[in-house]
Amino acid sequence: MKTKKIIRASFFHSPKYGEIEFQKHAVLLVSDDGIISEIIRKEDENYQQILSQHSQKSNFIDFKDKVLLPGFIDLHIHAPQWPQAGLALDDELSHWLNNFTFPLESKYADINYAREVYTDLVKTLLTNGTTSAMYFGTIHNEATLELARICANLGQRSFVGKVVMDDETMNPDFYRDNSTKEAIENTEKFINDVQKLSKDVPQGIYPVITPRFVPSCTDNALLELGKLAKKYNCYIQSHCSESDWEHDFVLERFGKRDTEVLNQFGLLTDKSIMAHGNFINSEDADIFKKNKSSVCHCPISNSYFANAVLPVNKLKKQGLNICLGTDISGGFSPSLYDNIKHTVMTSRMLNDGVDNRLEASCRGNHDSKVSVFEAFYLATTGGGEALKLPLGIFKEGYICDFQVIDINTPTNKLPNYLDNEEHKHLLQKILYLSTSENIREVWVQGKQILKKD
Ligand code: GUN
Ligand code: FE
Repeated sequence: MKTKKIIRASFFHSPKYGEIEFQKHAVLLVSDDGIISEIIRKEDENYQQILSQHSQKSNFIDFKDKVLLPGFIDLHIHAPQWPQAGLALDDELSHWLNNFTFPLESKYADINYAREVYTDLVKTLLTNGTTSAMYFGTIHNEATLELARICANLGQRSFVGKVVMDDETMNPDFYRDNSTKEAIENTEKFINDVQKLSKDVPQGIYPVITPRFVPSCTDNALLELGKLAKKYNCYIQSHCSESDWEHDFVLERFGKRDTEVLNQFGLLTDKSIMAHGNFINSEDADIFKKNKSSVCHCPISNSYFANAVLPVNKLKKQGLNICLGTDISGGFSPSLYDNIKHTVMTSRMLNDGVDNRLEASCRGNHDSKVSVFEAFYLATTGGGEALKLPLGIFKEGYICDFQVIDINTPTNKLPNYLDNEEHKHLLQKILYLSTSENIREVWVQGKQILKKD
């Protein structure tokens, strides 16, 4: 493995839930194929020797006083909904889908419209430090393949799904798969096309089997998608127990909970990432854990459409893997920084309760507070664990994806007036106060893919 780049930088990461590590001016050796082959810390014996050996070379990069964070990993986002981000957020889920979302998604039969929106969205995510993303496309193969191509070209690692919604009774005539057979054939064709495309993409582009959610799919479609997942060992994404309406609808149709239904059809594997999960109970959580499936927390979207707050701490304690998603446009923000903050804030409301007519002692759901470092873990390490890829931390053998933060950017200078600030204070300020202005460079698979001047 040839060493291609030698990077000297300070960095934060969270190898363990709730804990953070800071390294000042460490040296990262990055191989030709974008993998961290060695990290030399300041206190290591050979640190000075490595520095003097490499610091004059053209492949030596010194980030000086800037700080690296792992690239953020957004594992639930609807790319076609970007045009309506921030709109229609006072609606209820099923009405929102039928009256705003499906009419918008139907427009992606037009490949030119898709190209324009998707290019803008992927650039926006990169600008906000998101180096890996798992996308819902639409029912259209061509437009969704175009999304995969755009990610490939712009350098983002992506996981992309053609959406399946074949049930005639649940989906409008103007926007649904023509038949179950066609939905499955198109999904298989999509998997093959993305796998072909991925051959020339160093950072990886992966197909994802994507039943929209149980209510939009026939039993037969769910069964056949489960078979495809097995045949191709593919990633799977869907929505699971998101809201009262959605969860109760599935209970009524099957006499079973979402988790049980998804599991019965072979859709809960170690490569499954299910959005929301707000109403999963402890038996459901055991099924997730046993199958090594992950829940993707979408805190901003949940505040509008979910009727509940995900009990992150309780599920983590039960051993579940949880990652983070923007869920555009159920969530309005393309930034995982915003979703980190919202994870913390909504967990406080869950913890303390919000109904002032109740006594404080019985108002909340205690032990629910999620710290900003725990939320940072969900956006980085938790994402890598959900994907079963070596992503989200700075470690030998891990993929070298990061964002470069400048806390002194003139357009958003972070306050730094206290004496002897601890390193953990710096990370808190970065997570709470920085904007995309502070993200000066983005690197994926050991390569700079974005630089702001
Ligand atoms: N359930 C089914 N489709 C959707 C969607 O597009 N957004 C959200 N938040 N929930 C869904
Ligand atoms: Fe969603």
